[in-house]
Amino acid sequence: MDKQVDIIKATATDANLKSYEEARSSFDWTEVEKEFSWYTTGKVNMAYEAIDRHVEAGLGDKVALYYSDATRDEAVTYGQMKTNSDKFGNVLRKLGVAKGDRVFIFMPRSPELYYSLLGSVKIGAIVGPLFEAFMEQAVRDRLEDSQAVAIVTTPALLPRIPVADLPHLKHVILVTDEFEAAPGRVDYKNEMAQASEQLDIEWVDREDGLILHYTSGSTGKPKGVVHVHNAMIQHYYTGKIVLDLKKDDVYWCTADPGWVTGTSYGIFAPFLNAASNVIRGGRFSPQDWYNTIQRHKVTVWYSAPTAFRMLMGAGDDTVNQFDLSSLRHVLSVGEPLNPEVVRWGLKVYNQRIHDTWWMTETGGQLICNYPSMDIRPGSMGKPIPGTDAAIVDDNGNVLPPNRMGNLAIKTPWPSMMRKIWNNPSKYEEYFRLKGWYVSGDSAYMDEDGYFWFQGRVDDVINTSGERVGPFEVESKLVEHPAVAEAGVIGKPDPLRGEIIKAFISLRAGFEPSEELKADIAKFVKIGLSAHASPREIEFKDKLPKTRSGKIMRRVLKAWELGLPTGDLSTIED
Ligand code: PRX
Repeated sequence: MDKQVDIIKATATDANLKSYEEARSSFDWTEVEKEFSWYTTGKVNMAYEAIDRHVEAGLGDKVALYYSDATRDEAVTYGQMKTNSDKFGNVLRKLGVAKGDRVFIFMPRSPELYYSLLGSVKIGAIVGPLFEAFMEQAVRDRLEDSQAVAIVTTPALLPRIPVADLPHLKHVILVTDEFEAAPGRVDYKNEMAQASEQLDIEWVDREDGLILHYTSGSTGKPKGVVHVHNAMIQHYYTGKIVLDLKKDDVYWCTADPGWVTGTSYGIFAPFLNAASNVIRGGRFSPQDWYNTIQRHKVTVWYSAPTAFRMLMGAGDDTVNQFDLSSLRHVLSVGEPLNPEVVRWGLKVYNQRIHDTWWMTETGGQLICNYPSMDIRPGSMGKPIPGTDAAIVDDNGNVLPPNRMGNLAIKTPWPSMMRKIWNNPSKYEEYFRLKGWYVSGDSAYMDEDGYFWFQGRVDDVINTSGERVGPFEVESKLVEHPAVAEAGVIGKPDPLRGEIIKAFISLRAGFEPSEELKADIAKFVKIGLSAHASPREIEFKDKLPKTRSGKIMRRVLKAWELGLPTGDLSTIED
């Protein structure tokens, strides 16, 4: 790992985090806790701290949300956010939804999504955000596992919710102008129009459930990662020192709230810091995106490597058609951020792109680059003050600098997941090395304490920053009538980081063809979700399996990459 590192010097002089080393040496989370009203009142609720508190402090007319898509363009103040989330809390209460109940939100971005989410939090419900691209199987798995009692959705997505098979799901709240009554259906607009603006907020314990994000591992169905209200400490603090949010910032996080970045840093961190939060609905387009920055004079922008690579692909000329001079701080998360993208960002935006590392399970940012710290392009940065990261071997021994191993975080930290829903043994696996959370990523740390991502230890796929479990895709594939067996891997891709590639052996009577490939891909797309559908399919007569019948993805990957297949002693034949 002997390499020439280039360094992009820090130039920010007025960053919230003045000196990384100094902050680390004297850090105390209690000092951060003092920023919250509950430090004195003892009354806790994330949504109160994120919204209501600012209204009480006189920021009621400040814009909380700039929302736009192809058909809407709205500014919502903190005062309006409070009113609308209070009303939604009352809508849920009237339905009998109570503290600890799971309320799912399954719809495209819209102001109503944010009212519903914050309103649910206000009554102490545990929110389950679902990405709008999920199809029936994905929706079913999550609603079944969590035993959700209510879901907020739109008529377009309704057919993907197998209501008849989900007896615990009592209320389907529809956001629409054309409501059609049916048993269990609730008219969002009508109920909101009638709901009281006075809500008795549910004061919860710091350790009570806040949000449930489903995410994938290499085996089994997606697991429900539970975060608690206490996470606000880290959301607030990283919003301050990593996003570097200040009073007048207009902040834009491009992630969808169906994923953890879209909630921790698309809702909680910006609102806790009283920023004006830009939400852009609809699909990616370089022009739309740059226009969003130009129109709203976005100052802090948090996006992802695949998006930056696509913007790079759209060319420097596209950048030059817009006035992006409002930008003062740019960040990235979700996948390895290529050094050439960092260099390109410096050239065209005149901004350093600050990589940040964290996971659904960590709830908040952990290893980051800060405005006041030098950047080493290709490195994820250094652990936030108040936390420790290390590279450990499989027995939990800390490895010296420049040795590759398991990226681990010293437990606990404020936004750490508190359980896996219904699955305590899965939870414990993460903490199997005493005192450490084992991330599943491999990395090394250089002699100056910068962390460098190397890959996943397991078979989890990261395609365009979205985490996909091969098992989920394989399970769907084998439901196709032509498929006998399937093995799924992530294949390196210059744009998307990885793409999903499926190796398939066919049932007797089926012949390989391009039509069949297309049909199989479509089957996954319609049944599970577009982002989980294989972009490449290769038919094989046989797949490599262990003697116990497990498909050996590592051999598939070696085939794909033209690498030696390693130890095959456990292979079937
Ligand atoms: O492999 C790491 C990769 O994304 C995984 C976490 O995915 P998810 O839970 O969906 O959360 C995504 C955003 C919080 C990690 O285990 N990952 C995340 N950030 C980076 C990264 N890989 C390289 N560099 C990063 N900055």
